[in-house]
Amino acid sequence: MSRDLCKTRLAFGGDYNPEQWPRSTWLEDIALMQQAKVNLVTVGVFAWSRLEPRPGEHDFAWLDEVLDLLHDGGIRVNLATPTAAPPPWFAKAHPDTLPVTADGTRLAHGSRDTYCAAAPAYREAATAIARTLADRYRSHPALAMWHVHNEYGTVCHCDHAEAAFRQWLRDKYQDLDALNDAWTTTFWSQRYGDWDEITPPRATQWRPNPTQVLDFRRFWSDQLLTMFQDQREVIRQRTPGVPITTNFVLADWAPIDHARWAREVDLVAIDHYPNDAGPDAEAQTAFAADLARGWNQSWLLMECAPNLIYDHGRMHHREPDRLVRQCLAHVARGSHGALVFQWRAPRGGAELFHSALLPHAGPDSRVFRATVHLGHLLARIAEFSPGTVEASAAILHDDQSRWALQTPDLPRADIDYLGEVRAVHAAFWHLGITVDIAGRPGEQHRLAVVPAHFIVDDDLAAALTAYVERGGHLVVTFLTGLVDEHLHIGLGGYPAKLRHLLGIRVEELHPLAGPAYWTELVRLHGAVRVGPDLTRHEYGRGVAWYSSTRLDRATLEAIAGEAGVERSGAPAGVEVIKRQGCLFALNHTDREQRLDGGLVLAPGGVAVVQDGLVVQTDPAID
Ligand code: GLA
Repeated sequence: MSRDLCKTRLAFGGDYNPEQWPRSTWLEDIALMQQAKVNLVTVGVFAWSRLEPRPGEHDFAWLDEVLDLLHDGGIRVNLATPTAAPPPWFAKAHPDTLPVTADGTRLAHGSRDTYCAAAPAYREAATAIARTLADRYRSHPALAMWHVHNEYGTVCHCDHAEAAFRQWLRDKYQDLDALNDAWTTTFWSQRYGDWDEITPPRATQWRPNPTQVLDFRRFWSDQLLTMFQDQREVIRQRTPGVPITTNFVLADWAPIDHARWAREVDLVAIDHYPNDAGPDAEAQTAFAADLARGWNQSWLLMECAPNLIYDHGRMHHREPDRLVRQCLAHVARGSHGALVFQWRAPRGGAELFHSALLPHAGPDSRVFRATVHLGHLLARIAEFSPGTVEASAAILHDDQSRWALQTPDLPRADIDYLGEVRAVHAAFWHLGITVDIAGRPGEQHRLAVVPAHFIVDDDLAAALTAYVERGGHLVVTFLTGLVDEHLHIGLGGYPAKLRHLLGIRVEELHPLAGPAYWTELVRLHGAVRVGPDLTRHEYGRGVAWYSSTRLDRATLEAIAGEAGVERSGAPAGVEVIKRQGCLFALNHTDREQRLDGGLVLAPGGVAVVQDGLVVQTDPAID
């Protein structure tokens, strides 16, 4: 099978946990999946204790049967390695693999993700179970894709982690003087005389060394990546050509450097759970999808909640049309399909009330009717084979700046990197402008916004300069470029590496009370002031703007207009995305909407149009 998943059809389905149910339920599951046109299910994510009930003793009979039944039912399998949930016997035999928090507490077994990816026994066992699974199912006709592990993210401060961290630092810095310099260890008497003196940033008396903390986060991202690579290699040897991925969590915690990881997976897979029950969930959905596409053009929505949004500690049910629209929003922005968490709602365990395509109420439910509707809709849209998403603007995003902006003692304590990036993305979304989210601006982008990109190294500064020289419009906002990759301030005025390009010099940072949030004392060195907090600098064939506060929508609109960025022109609340000859229109309002060209969208409805053919949702699911 080609690594290019779902060329001809869009994936639809979700996590399927047959290990939680008797065989009679499997048969009902498959019949209902067929009714809903489910064609891809993730199997086995947390099934380690069923697959290996005792050390070295495997039980595959149940999984053999499940895979055979799915195959007979025409449903393909995204086969997971179960390594995010080691069995109780494993924790008992290898207590040194249980993770240790920064304050030295060793966590006990009893949930999931209780592992340390630097512990040799865990690493060996994880690779071994992945190898055994790949050996067993390498030729199974249902196998469509590999789902390695689940949401990598457990960080540990144990002695294994310490040894691995030191080795990572030796590889990175080569000599101790370089590390001492990068970590500014002259501050507070932290100079290291021997590699063995270095520890993870464990709980300490007061503020830790920020560069040590940042390097520890980089280390963990890399360490977890080696674990993924180990499993990927044993799987790839056995099933070359079957795509291999892992699901990225898009939440308030960002344990891995996604852009770095995206180069290691055959396709990016994201889990997205918007946390706003109101209209902001639509903008959040667009943001998540654009992030995923920026990491890899080949990507898939791997998890979302069928009818649930958790907002401020409360479950909100989302209407069926909203489930359909949000799944379609991902497809419109390039996803290979729409998978959810999960197929069938559990009747026990730690996620008792998590929603599912097949709810506790059973198939006679509006959620299941929406599931059937969505499955049929996706099957019809696949016939259109939409092309690449068209975007002429970009937002730069950087997980390492996000980590660095969590350093204590910054000019204000409530800095929220992702919030700043999302606000810019939401402004574009409300203006009807489709954007890419990327590490660097591309040739196709007439406008690139760089919000709160705290870390700017020489390479990024050179890329941005070249982009403007070639004719691009660049908007840099406050908090950008205050430090380099070692968290060293560039002296002589902020943002040191971009001053020349922007034609300004920031002398002072002024965090403000209230919604104004931030301003700065900005001196002009070639730029002109075009607003109280906005400067404009013609440079090469392009323009470099600097915003010393949050960008408002009107400012962005004016700059996008000058840069010649295309807008959809759709009414407020209607999202239009173009994919080379194919158009997706999503009506997020509760009113009928009419677009230029005569297309009429039902309240809450979706239409996909190509070559005069139109597929529309049924707005009346109840
Ligand atoms: C994550 C996990 C799933 C499940 C969901 C619940 O995305 O991958 O196993 O716990 O969250 O929302």
